[in-house]
Amino acid sequence: MRMSVIGCGYLGAVHAAAMASIGHEVIGIDVDEGKVATLREGSAPFFEPRLDDLLRDGIASGRLRFSTRAADAAGAAVHFLAVGTPQIAGGHAADLRHVDAAIEALLPHLRRGDVVAGKSTVPVGTAERLSARVSATGAALAWNPEFLREGWAVHDTIEPDRIVVGTTADAGGETAAALLREAYGPAVERGVPFLVTDLATAELVKGAANAFLATKISFINAMSEIAEAAGADVAMLADALGHDDRIGRRYLGSGIGFGGGCLPKDIRAFAARAEELGRGESVGFLHEVDAINMRRRDRAVQLVVDALGGLVFGKRVAVLGAAFKPFSDDIRDSPALDVAVRLRGLGADVVVTDPAAVDNARAAHPQLSYAPERDTALREADAVVIVTEWDDYRRDLTPEHAGGLVRGRIVIDGRNCLDPGAWRAAGWTYHGMGRR
Ligand code: UDX
Repeated sequence: MRMSVIGCGYLGAVHAAAMASIGHEVIGIDVDEGKVATLREGSAPFFEPRLDDLLRDGIASGRLRFSTRAADAAGAAVHFLAVGTPQIAGGHAADLRHVDAAIEALLPHLRRGDVVAGKSTVPVGTAERLSARVSATGAALAWNPEFLREGWAVHDTIEPDRIVVGTTADAGGETAAALLREAYGPAVERGVPFLVTDLATAELVKGAANAFLATKISFINAMSEIAEAAGADVAMLADALGHDDRIGRRYLGSGIGFGGGCLPKDIRAFAARAEELGRGESVGFLHEVDAINMRRRDRAVQLVVDALGGLVFGKRVAVLGAAFKPFSDDIRDSPALDVAVRLRGLGADVVVTDPAAVDNARAAHPQLSYAPERDTALREADAVVIVTEWDDYRRDLTPEHAGGLVRGRIVIDGRNCLDPGAWRAAGWTYHGMGRR
């Protein structure tokens, strides 16, 4: 099938490459010339495991192309909309500027029978508004939210756990559902649930999924606060809760909380839209979820200050991690970097390292010092703070090896990812978050 993907960021670039890998003929379109040039060379403009291979194969096969011209989308049967919806400046709502601009640029190139499939995360009601514009051309609008996780984006796109397609209740909607079923053919044939809903439900599925995941993380972090006060251990608590199938262990990882380009801004936009709909109280808990999450960063900083005897001024602190999560170079709303910046603000001599995100972090926070690799960061440190649970820190760093590099054997485990017993046995003072 011929398809276009408008917007080649974390979502669109992966989607375009993944669709080409299953046999479709794909044109990826983005207004950013630099990004398009990089993609054309077969390399990803950001760190995402497996994406380079997929891009290279797709381009070599001739099935994957990239362009800056919206006109090059003409002739595709399905146009996926994958532009960003950041948090609006000065408020909590989503900024739909890129969505509107992409639709306007696409409209002149749509033919009767084409399908525009929105993948961007938008406030409920957006699709219906856009549908009026799109259907005037004889094309149909569907909403097909994306649930991919950065770091697992290729896997999640090729092997999704469900495919949700919101359509209008008319012939255009039927065409859209049929075309999208074909677009996702291999996954549908493997039995991946293919759920056809109305437009509003499809939009809400995405918002609700992110709200639920964020709530789960903040729930365990709230328990972490209680555990800390009660002298209990939140990691053991999470393991015990997780054995209950109704609860499950995933997204019960406690620590400095969630960040990234999605969860924080999506729960805010979700709450802002609920307020517009007169249902603010229904998601009032999301403000609490947000507040618990932001408190985690304060708590991590406080733990470092306390561990260093109440004063970090002039102390060398090795911050292991800058990305908002492992297997990503994304530093958008990264709790890891936020902790580093706050410690620096208190006068600490902060050295940040990360296997993938140092360049992005340096561009955003040039005031911090950066080390290209872990051991350089650890050298002569008075305290070590783990804020992104890369394998390099969580699994491959032994307390004995680290102990040979640092000045002070103090470790603050901001992701509750280390074995406290092993670190203590090696002479370290270990501080987890809500752990004994
Ligand atoms: C998320 C959703 O998972 C995905 O479905 C949606 O499409 C986009 O937003 P992503 O932002 O890539 O994906 O990251 P995710 O793996 O969900 O992690 C989000 C944040 O939560 C990270 O900062 C991570 O460190 C944190 N997290 C995750 C926890 O603190 N504890 C956990 O148990 C899990």
